[in-house]
Amino acid sequence: MLQRYIGNKNALIQELLAAVQPLAAPGDLVCDAFSGSVAVSVALKSAGYRVATNDINLLSWVFAIAYLKNSSLPALDMPALLGGRTAKSTKTGSQCNRIEDWSEIVEHLIAAPSSFESKIEWRQDFFDYYCEEGAKSSFLSSRGKAGRRRFFTAANAKAIDRALSRIRYWWRANIIDENVRCLLTARLLDGIEKRSNTQGTYHDFPRDFYDSRALRPLCIEVPETSLMQGRSDHIVGKAEDSLEFVRRVPDHAVLYLDPPYNFRQYTSYYFLPNIVARYPDIDSLDDYFANVKFVRGQNMDDDFTSSFCKSAQFISSLERIIMRSRCRHVVMSYFDGKNHWGSFKAGPDGQGRKHLEEFFKSSIFVPGTMRCIPVERLNYQSYGGYQAKSVSEYIFIAEKARKPHSSRKLIRPRVEESAI
Ligand SMILES: C[S@@+](CC[C@H](N)C(=O)[O-])C[C@H]1O[C@@H](n2cnc3c(N)ncnc32)[C@H](O)[C@@H]1O
Repeated sequence: MLQRYIGNKNALIQELLAAVQPLAAPGDLVCDAFSGSVAVSVALKSAGYRVATNDINLLSWVFAIAYLKNSSLPALDMPALLGGRTAKSTKTGSQCNRIEDWSEIVEHLIAAPSSFESKIEWRQDFFDYYCEEGAKSSFLSSRGKAGRRRFFTAANAKAIDRALSRIRYWWRANIIDENVRCLLTARLLDGIEKRSNTQGTYHDFPRDFYDSRALRPLCIEVPETSLMQGRSDHIVGKAEDSLEFVRRVPDHAVLYLDPPYNFRQYTSYYFLPNIVARYPDIDSLDDYFANVKFVRGQNMDDDFTSSFCKSAQFISSLERIIMRSRCRHVVMSYFDGKNHWGSFKAGPDGQGRKHLEEFFKSSIFVPGTMRCIPVERLNYQSYGGYQAKSVSEYIFIAEKARKPHSSRKLIRPRVEESAI
């Protein structure tokens, strides 16, 4: 799973499970409505919950199908995948789900095309558009600076193209099903994350150097089966607006919310992994790539403006998602970083926490049920080697009222637009 996804809750899994466990029994449905890297959804699955998961980024759908809908390695049709060649690891049978079969296929994914693979259309979109040597990678920035995109080295861009050409062909020729497609794509995305020349997101890339990680060859590893263990009857949204997704989630014990708290739109920050996720479904790749824009090279048809990223709409969107959800309790993560409240340049000043406390005491919750749990973390950025304990993560918990009561009106804090 992606490790560099902004705002991922990898480090808070234990605290979040501790918040959910008193509210939901194993087997209950828990909804993760902003699932991102799916770190929390996978942890909920392994704790025995049935999970409803969704995120506006298509990459999250890939990881959710890969690790929630699979309970073990899915079977591969080795002869069909290898274009009729005999698999190294398998002499008989076409349904192979051993680690050796998966190891052979992930290795094959980026290998040079073989004469057995004449039906595959070998594309070079990543080479053309996202590496310096590509014929279509030039850009002109809004400040008038010209350059070439350098998200990958030429060798790695070509390896990504080979993997994508194969997955696209296998998918469109019905050689793989959705579970296999997503597991292969998830492994490819993990490999890409380790070799992309970025500082975490794909909004931009270093204009005049390559990060040393990016210079090493792309490598795709076999899937981690430990992440898949557990039930597979989960509900997985496909890049839906969660304000709509929650409407179709049946009664659930807990709605877990981890929305964005500032203006940064995740669909533009992660547009490139989203292309990898979407690639097999794009009918005309020529038309799609002819429309890429900006320094980064995004097709803006895939972009989504989240109301949670707009300071003036944040609280009303929060209220809407909770009102639409058939949940008993709400658990919400809050990181007191640079956010909608206060001056963005000056950083956090505790305003966000105060506004959220007011919100969780509003009429849509049962009075007296709001709790705000601070999560102490070591602050590794402290000066002089001294590591202070700082609290900037909070977990809010409250029980949703069956009907909004009138004793405390919902307070909508005024937020300065200058904050963004
Ligand atoms: C802080 S991140 C969540 C991180 C996640 N909990 C994890 O552990 O990786 C916020 C997420 O909200 C998603 N998002 C923003 N607006 C959305 C919307 N209206 N519907 C669905 N997802 C949305 C973003 O794509 C992003 O992944």
